Amino acid sequence: MVLLWQFFQRFLRYRATLGFGLLCIPLAQLADVAVTILIGNALERARLADSSEWMNKVILWLAVYALVQGVFRFYQRWLIVVVSRQVEVGLKQDLFDKLVRLPFAFHDRSRSGDVVSRLTSDVEAVRMVLGPGLMYTLGALVIIPISLVILFQIHATLALVMVLPMFAMGLTMKLVSPRLERYSLAVQESVADISHRAQENFAGVRVVQGYRRENQQAALFESTSRINRDNQVTLGEARGVTHAAINGSFEMTFAVILLLGGMAAIDRTMPVGAIFKFIDLTIKVFWPLIAIGWVLGMLPRAQASAQRIDELMREANPIEDPDSKSGSTATSGAATIAPIQGRITFEDVSFQYPRGNRPALAHISFDVPVGSTLGIVGPTGSGKTTILNLVGRLFDTTSGRVLLDGVPVRELPLSQVRGALGYVPQDSFLFSERYEDNIRFGAEHELTDAEIDALIELAAMTEEVARFPEGKATVVGERGVTLSGGQRQRTCIARALARAPRVLILDDCLSAVDTETERQLLHSLSAAGEGRTVLVAAHRLSSVRDADQILVLSADGRPEAIGTHRDLIAAGGWYADTWERQQRRESLGIRDSLVDEGPLVPGQETTAEAEARR
Ligand SMILES: Nc1ncnc2c1ncn2[C@@H]1O[C@H](COP(=O)(O)OP(=O)(O)OP(=O)(O)O)[C@@H](O)[C@H]1O
Ligand SMILES: [Mg+2]
Repeated sequence: MVLLWQFFQRFLRYRATLGFGLLCIPLAQLADVAVTILIGNALERARLADSSEWMNKVILWLAVYALVQGVFRFYQRWLIVVVSRQVEVGLKQDLFDKLVRLPFAFHDRSRSGDVVSRLTSDVEAVRMVLGPGLMYTLGALVIIPISLVILFQIHATLALVMVLPMFAMGLTMKLVSPRLERYSLAVQESVADISHRAQENFAGVRVVQGYRRENQQAALFESTSRINRDNQVTLGEARGVTHAAINGSFEMTFAVILLLGGMAAIDRTMPVGAIFKFIDLTIKVFWPLIAIGWVLGMLPRAQASAQRIDELMREANPIEDPDSKSGSTATSGAATIAPIQGRITFEDVSFQYPRGNRPALAHISFDVPVGSTLGIVGPTGSGKTTILNLVGRLFDTTSGRVLLDGVPVRELPLSQVRGALGYVPQDSFLFSERYEDNIRFGAEHELTDAEIDALIELAAMTEEVARFPEGKATVVGERGVTLSGGQRQRTCIARALARAPRVLILDDCLSAVDTETERQLLHSLSAAGEGRTVLVAAHRLSSVRDADQILVLSADGRPEAIGTHRDLIAAGGWYADTWERQQRRESLGIRDSLVDEGPLVPGQETTAEAEARR
């Protein structure tokens, strides 16, 4: 309850609108009751009257009340809906802002479906109870007492006979609505399962067809669909029974009124006008009672949803600006330094992923001066990507320090650190937008067409982009599927260069281009990025050959050697062996690929191979 109240505070931001909306509720209800009384009295008068002139006045009043009622009801609904939708938008935005900033560690451990459901159905549950739920409750709190007083005045015994079963009906509603809610949640979840399964299969359609798994996947889809059908049927049944019960008992109340009221009319103890009022007021009490039952039944779920949302809002973000920890708005805690130059230092860095069962990196130290290049190589799974992640604080080190321009990155404003980096991820993810917008994504300012063209040129993509159906305005497929692997990689490079970063981080992003394009790209990158620090992780050693230093990692994330290409060749070991083998393949024209690489050093197999053997 406390939590829901917390969320209600968000409604209070729209005090004026909300207040006016709430004020409309009693006014609409009073006008509604006035109509009943007016008609009831008129019926009574008509029975005794001998002329009909007075009817004009009654009809005029009726029109006035109806209009007043209509206007207030409209505003009541409209204003409350507007406010609750505003609150919903604000809450969703806050959640999204939070989620999109939460560290990788959070996203690694949560299923994206679960996160999406917090954004959608949990927010909806809270909105329903606090918006429309509150409106129905307030309406009921006004109309029920007024109607009850009049009902008891008209015929106390009859009122008592009516009211008790009605309360029982409201109570039943309170009892069944959690069940209805549970069924509808199950339906929602199974619908989500269907779309998740479909989405995964369409995204992975190449794998599905490549392995001729269409039939199995179709069967899996069918079973998911069947679960959904069963859930829908259960929900339908439960809804049907509830509707039937409510409507049935609603109609039955009239049987009682007719029986008791009719006898009273025959006895002349109750005029016909009063019977009309009685019937109409009964209707006015019945539905609000059902609504209150519904709201009460929804409360537990809304509370659970509020709790889940609150948990997410409170999710600590361990990777945050140094000043935000102290809570001060000034940058007092953060070491603001002059524009970043780009020297990168690792001091005895070890790191274990929150979900990892062994350290991914152990005792890594290196120093990359401004404007120089560090190559990072090693077998697959040796921690190359991990090192690059630590530079941009996508994770924080477990022990040891990462320094940028001699200042620990943890002490620098996050925006300054990330703003200085141009990151090309290994999986070359692109958005399904226009080609050029994917490049614009990387820039912190608006890029001109000429700048875009220059970036495309730098990424050695000019000819290929010209061949796209609409050139650089072509919309790329989801995750970039309409581009080749190499085109995606080079587009990601252009995106990273768009911000003219001080530090360029390339995570094995030349693996899918041929050696010639690679050579050309490396050349233009170094020519364009005068004074830029570059960290490049690679499988193909030719990508790092010209680097000022090359760090060789062992399969378990330890530093095996560091030096120039020449040093490492002279020293022998993994680097020299791998270089020789790759050169031999290159000269035979065999494209080296991750998959067909044998054990890199006799007796030393890659992590992937070890995994596969297990
Ligand atoms: N998010 C994660 N959670 C837990 N463990 C992880 C995570 N990411 C990577 N690892 C583990 O950390 C180790 C290093 O992974 P990393 O991605 O840095 O290797 P890599 O050298 O980049 O490999 P590749 O050459 O295949 O790109 C691996 O054993 C991997 O299984
Ligand atoms: Mg990697």
